[in-house]
Amino acid sequence: MRDPITIALTGAGGQIGYAALFRIASGAMLGEDRPVRLRLLEIPQGMRAAEGAALELADCAFPTLAGVELTDDPATAFDGANVALLIGSRPRTAGMERGDLLSANGAIFGPQGRAIGECAADDVRVAVVGNPANTNALIAQQHAPDVPAERFTALTRLDHNRAVGILAAQAGAPVAEIDGVTIWGNHSATQYPDLSHATVGGRPALETVDVEWARGPYVERVARRGAEIIEVRGGSSVGSAANAAIEHVRDWLLGTARPGDPGRRTSAAIVSRGEYGVPEGLISSFPVRSEAGEWRVVEGLSVDEFSRERIDASVAELIAERDAVRELGLIR
Ligand code: NAI
Repeated sequence: MRDPITIALTGAGGQIGYAALFRIASGAMLGEDRPVRLRLLEIPQGMRAAEGAALELADCAFPTLAGVELTDDPATAFDGANVALLIGSRPRTAGMERGDLLSANGAIFGPQGRAIGECAADDVRVAVVGNPANTNALIAQQHAPDVPAERFTALTRLDHNRAVGILAAQAGAPVAEIDGVTIWGNHSATQYPDLSHATVGGRPALETVDVEWARGPYVERVARRGAEIIEVRGGSSVGSAANAAIEHVRDWLLGTARPGDPGRRTSAAIVSRGEYGVPEGLISSFPVRSEAGEWRVVEGLSVDEFSRERIDASVAELIAERDAVRELGLIR
């Protein structure tokens, strides 16, 4: 067994936290040879549920679980953390204006970002799940000026996996044969699932499925999949969201390459360096690969007029969110 890695997870008493914890503790995220030390951050209202989850973790007797600590103090939770999964957030409630939502989340992600900057390990990597994820990641990042900016990311892996699953079903092909799908932009209804460079069993996806479908109902279905799950299941996505968070971190730390598929790629919201015309500094979803613990945008893909418009629309929403949190004084 190697040395333990410290994983801080916020919202441990919530649904996604509950679904993620057991898989993280069992080694599904970083391997069965890598013990994990868990730090669970909750607010007082969520503490009992997190305590219950910790009792159940003990009952699993995972050999990979090196310890569990519960706290409501961000500085304690992020002390020495190598990975921070920021799941707990303030969801939009009925009648809540966008400014209220952003302020409420600023009050969570600002202090958490500061605590990460002050207390986390030098190699800390942060994945934000709590919505509005991209902008929450930006807020946290701006409060941790000494942490390299690219260590703050947001999850669009669930959107990516949904896009792959829905394409596979439409094409009548196994998921394993799908490659090259990209989610661009914001983790929101404006996101753009792009099949321009996707393949199904090595053939261009846009020759396998109807182009009209790929650029109309498909885009809508992927973007609205969360709402579809709520309608059918009677509750929001939980297992698939936890799975996506785990896959995001696993690919980031261990790399996207697989035996026989060295060029494998995925989607993640990472800090733009200006790639594909996305303004520098925004945390936007791109086609990505990871190697040696660094996400890299897959560059050089052609972007046609339809894709350009969709990417620009989602990026415009990210700019508006960034400007709104700037106006609220939540970032510089
Ligand atoms: P939930 O309401 O079941 O759990 C959230 C937990 O976070 C609660 O236990 C709450 O007490 C805790 N919490 C709130 N503020 C906190 C703080 N300041 N510090 C620590 N913990 C705090 O919600 P669920 O279903 O687990 O979802 C969590 C978030 O993930 C929501 O914002 C949801 O919108 C988002 N989400 C994001 C997805 C993505 O793909 N990026 C997909 C699905 C959900």
